[in-house]
Amino acid sequence: MVMVIEVRLKHVKGAAESVEKSSYVIIEEEAQKGQMQSLFINKAPLHIEIGMGKGNFIIENAKKYPHINFIGIEKYDSVIIRAVQKLEEEKLDNLKLIRMDATNIDKIFEKEVDTIYLNFSDPWPKDRHAKRRLSSSTFLKRYDAIFSKEKKIVMKTDNRHLFEYSLMSFTDYGYQIKELSLDLYKDDYPDNIATEYEEKFHTLGYPIYRVSVNKK
Ligand SMILES: C[S@@+](CC[C@H](N)C(=O)[O-])C[C@H]1O[C@@H](n2cnc3c(N)ncnc32)[C@H](O)[C@@H]1O
Repeated sequence: MVMVIEVRLKHVKGAAESVEKSSYVIIEEEAQKGQMQSLFINKAPLHIEIGMGKGNFIIENAKKYPHINFIGIEKYDSVIIRAVQKLEEEKLDNLKLIRMDATNIDKIFEKEVDTIYLNFSDPWPKDRHAKRRLSSSTFLKRYDAIFSKEKKIVMKTDNRHLFEYSLMSFTDYGYQIKELSLDLYKDDYPDNIATEYEEKFHTLGYPIYRVSVNKK
C-alpha cells in the first residue's frame, strides 16, 4: 500500500527575510559556483542534501562529522526557515544552506561535490512528471557536472515505487549499488541519522528503504 501524505505549505510570515539574514544561508549562490569551499573555515569533502526540508538530517550530520562540509538545499522559504530557526542556538562552521530549486543545481556547483543525499524526495508518481524526480536521468546528468571525482549518491525513502524507479535509474546511468537496505530499521545501521519524514514513516510502521550508489 502506498500512503500519500498531503503536504500543505503554510505561509510563514517573514520567512524569506529571516532566511536571507541567517549567517548559515548562502545568498547570491551563483557567484559561489566552483568556490563553495571558500565559504567554510576548513577545506573538507563537501556533502549536499537536496530537498532537506526542516533540516534535521543535515544539521545532525554537521554536528557528528565536523571534518565534512555540508550544504543543505531546499526550495521553499516556509520550510527552510525551520532549519534556520533550529540553527539559531548553534555554532556550526561546517554547515551552509541554500534556498533554491535543484533544477538549477549545475548553475550553482561545479566539480566540487563529493556526496549527494536524497532523503524522502517528492515521488512525482505520474509518468509524465518522471523527469522531476531527483533520481531521474535528467537530474543525474546535472549531478555529473557538480561532482568532484567519484560520484556518490545516498537515498532514503518510504516510497517503494520511487525506490524501485531510482534503483533502475541509477544503474541504467552507470552507478553501482554499494549498500542496499529494504528495511533500514531491521538492518544494522548504527550511524543512521533520521530525517523528519523518516521519523514520521518509521513511527507509522513503514519500512524505510536505503541505497548508496557510486560511479567513477
Ligand atoms: C518530502 S519532503 C522531505 C524533506 C526531508 N528530506 C525529510 O526527509 O524530512 C521533500 C522536500 O524536498 C523539497 N524539494 C522538492 N523538490 C525540490 C527541488 N527541486 N529543489 C529543492 N528542494 C526540493 C521540498 O520542498 C520538500 O521540503
